Amino acid sequence: MNTLNLKIDKDKCIKCAKCTNDCITSAIKQGDDGYPVEINPAYCISCQHCLMVCPVGALSIFDKDPSNSSKIENKVKEEDLFNLIQSRRSIRKFKDENVSKEDLNKLKQMLNYTPTGCNRRGLYFSFIEDRDVMEKFRNNVNKKMIKVLSNPFLSPFLSRYKTLLAPIKEGQDVIFRSCPHLVALSVSKDSPCRDIDPIIALSYFELYAYSLNIGTCWCGFAQGVLSKIPSLQKALNIPKTHKLSYVMLFGYPDIKYQRTQQPKPYTFYTVK
Ligand SMILES: Cc1cc2nc3c(=O)[nH]c(=O)nc-3n(C[C@H](O)[C@H](O)[C@H](O)COP(=O)(O)O)c2cc1C
Repeated sequence: MNTLNLKIDKDKCIKCAKCTNDCITSAIKQGDDGYPVEINPAYCISCQHCLMVCPVGALSIFDKDPSNSSKIENKVKEEDLFNLIQSRRSIRKFKDENVSKEDLNKLKQMLNYTPTGCNRRGLYFSFIEDRDVMEKFRNNVNKKMIKVLSNPFLSPFLSRYKTLLAPIKEGQDVIFRSCPHLVALSVSKDSPCRDIDPIIALSYFELYAYSLNIGTCWCGFAQGVLSKIPSLQKALNIPKTHKLSYVMLFGYPDIKYQRTQQPKPYTFYTVK
């Protein structure tokens, strides 16, 4: 990256240095005249902290106009967030209807804000947004699973799926739980935090979806099957530079939980 297109509105800038102090890579520093300047643009990780922290909206970077950012008002109540976390569950019963375009759009917009290591942002989301497309995908996977699992010489990994054969043959959707949608998340193979970035994004997805009355289920079965039988990934259009990480099923729930669970508490060790 040659330039950050750092632009300072000198009529607004109060030279408070909040932007340069919050730059973790010292890509920008205060110049002799007190205004921020690009020093090491190649070090910039594009995090936009400088744009966000400016108290007067005087700093533009990458041609982003600060007035296009939403105001941060910290309006989420702690008890609301805790209640959301307490009451979410894996959903395995879905209404036979598509999630609205509006809700899908909200979910996608939210994903743009999830953190990634070194701000690498190497995520690639494959969405199945229509239940007819999901039906085709599901049938394809289940047909292939019957073929693969009927082979007496299975790899140790696929042997673990042997118990799925009978229910799949009976027409039970043990992998996808009759969901109308899924999101399969892939990550760039050279992302420094490729094991964790997708999991963070899907954790955010799960909770935000729940706030929109959309149920989700992490799907280890789908992840395993799609990873071990790569031909099944074709419809997901995963770039060659990326690797499938995880799969989450989602849709409007056809079940309502009335009270929270009572989990066995973990051990929390206090280091002294
Ligand atoms: C990484 C992961 C993989 C999972 N894979 C599946 C799966 O393939 N199928 C399924 O029905 N549930 C799956 N689950 C759901 C778990 O069974 C569920 O989270 C756990 O029983 C706790 O229940 P709760 O999510 O309702 O709180 C998975 C959950 C996680 C976190």
